[in-house]
Amino acid sequence: MAHKDDKYTKDGKKIDWIKNRPSAPNYYKHRFINDGVTAWQMPDPSQEDIMCELQLQAIGDFAPLDITIDESLFRKELKQYEDKWVPYLRREGVTNDREGLLLVGAEGDSVGDSLSMPEVRKRLGEIPGKRLLETDLCYPTEAFHNLTALYPITKYFDKLGRSMLVKLNKGGWFPPHRDTPQLSRDCFRVVGFLSRSCGHGGFMWEHDYRPVQIEPMRCYYADTRKTHRTAAFDSDIIHLVINVPKTWENVLKLLSITEHH
Ligand SMILES: [Fe+2]
Repeated sequence: MAHKDDKYTKDGKKIDWIKNRPSAPNYYKHRFINDGVTAWQMPDPSQEDIMCELQLQAIGDFAPLDITIDESLFRKELKQYEDKWVPYLRREGVTNDREGLLLVGAEGDSVGDSLSMPEVRKRLGEIPGKRLLETDLCYPTEAFHNLTALYPITKYFDKLGRSMLVKLNKGGWFPPHRDTPQLSRDCFRVVGFLSRSCGHGGFMWEHDYRPVQIEPMRCYYADTRKTHRTAAFDSDIIHLVINVPKTWENVLKLLSITEHH
């Protein structure tokens, strides 16, 4: 269990505490006001962005996929990483018992490295004029290779961006947020729920201000541009989060594994 004044991971690595973000980025200012300070802006959507986003929107906000994960194989393979979980995005002044295990990250990263985007940016250092994107973090860790139970989804797409397992312990939560809401985001997200206890008593995922129903061990397309928040009322609530590079090819591959067609 992690506490708000932890300094090191179980593995002995220093935890980078991240400041709370006061508000959403000023997308308008970044795009339309050249103040000589803003070094980077999200590109305008390309034709492929618009094709992909419209097609993804047709899939839904939180749509079940035809892929489920073998629970007993997953639990068996996960045992080797029991002491490798690292605190996930510690925010200054906030108690939040959540951890992660890195599956795909920066070149040379291992399962014991920090995995949220703010932590990775801090860890690697920002390059002036360049913003680190999910697709830049495309190097599988040993855990990616060793967790074969996840292959039905992790190996379905040719290449992934930053991907991880997230574990919420009792009282762990993600506040309401959107992940890269711009149409020109470089990846879309697929989430797999890898704990039995993801019903009312154990776990809650609210999507676009409404609770969603989750089937244990199933993968879902989640439109994480829309506001979502989660909370755990039970221990050991694990989910898989993968970033899939947003190409027309990958969008059609995703459409081909949706349920109910
Ligand atoms: Fe999110």
